[in-house]
Amino acid sequence: MAEHIGIVGAGYVGLTSAACFARLGHRVTCVDSAESKVDELRRGVVSIAEPGLAELVAQGLGDGTLTFTTAQAELHGADLVFLCLPTPPAEDGRPDLGVLERVVPQLGRLLRPGCVVVTKSTVPVGTAARLPGLLGRTDLPVAANPEFLREGHAVDDFLHPDRVVLGTDPPGSAAASRVARLYEPAGAPVVLTDSASAELAKYASNAFLAVKLSYVNVLAELCERSGADVREVARTMGLDARIGPEFLAPGPGWGGSCLPKDTSALLHAADSAGVDFGILRDAVRVNARQRARVVR
Ligand SMILES: NC(=O)c1ccc[n+]([C@@H]2O[C@H](COP(=O)([O-])OP(=O)(O)OC[C@H]3O[C@@H](n4cnc5c(N)ncnc54)[C@H](O)[C@@H]3O)[C@@H](O)[C@H]2O)c1
Repeated sequence: MAEHIGIVGAGYVGLTSAACFARLGHRVTCVDSAESKVDELRRGVVSIAEPGLAELVAQGLGDGTLTFTTAQAELHGADLVFLCLPTPPAEDGRPDLGVLERVVPQLGRLLRPGCVVVTKSTVPVGTAARLPGLLGRTDLPVAANPEFLREGHAVDDFLHPDRVVLGTDPPGSAAASRVARLYEPAGAPVVLTDSASAELAKYASNAFLAVKLSYVNVLAELCERSGADVREVARTMGLDARIGPEFLAPGPGWGGSCLPKDTSALLHAADSAGVDFGILRDAVRVNARQRARVVR
């Protein structure tokens, strides 16, 4: 069934989601506060380099299934609204939810009853549970649907995900089923869980990849000093199905827009909960040392 989907935030995650949902046959209204970005997108100008994205945007604009606007009011009739807003790290490493906390109450004043409000942004545990309070409404079901796409592979990852995670309280609610239906064409495993587990799963996945990379970078140092070839060691490890070959290439240290921010957020969450996440702290420390080592 075609739905009217609202997307808030037309960045990597929001624009990809908007264009892909339109491609899957839904009517999509994509809202962004940046006027210049919305002007460009209306003309089909896509400023992020994602294979296939400009073509999907052009197709959606052409057949009228995809529209861009700065006016939140155009989300009034939406069946589901996905929050794809930035959650950058604050100075102490905690995710800054300022934008989300400003936008959600505005949405609460305009969405029609029954509209499902979904967090696609990477947000700390407890965010979905806070949404009804922020919305000021109890007639808007909420769900956590963290996004796992990689920059540079965004369209392919969105259309062919390894898994879809849907967190609602209780798990598998009617709202979760409505969101799950949108992803049916992907044929991916769907994890129907509670919202806290869905939110934590996103941080846990990225932090685990960071630990894997730091592990192989320390291993590279040991190989250098012991006459082994780290590429051979990593290749051998990667052939073990329990380990897998991904994220085993030694390098200058991990970076990008997600791993540093998500490891900091998870460390902050662990500290706040009184949990000593030493292995993750070490991965961050090793990464800083690796960067310094490469610069030397
Ligand atoms: N980039 C990735 O690879 C990736 C992958 C998975 C998850 N995420 C998460 O998804 C979320 C969004 O990330 P992104 O990379 O798409 O961010 P982004 O910075 O590319 O896009 C955010 C968009 O939100 C818009 N925006 C800001 N304030 C707004 C407001 N008040 N109203 C409407 N629009 C507003 C900005 O103009 C921008 O276009 C973050 O939580 C991020 O951690 C990102």
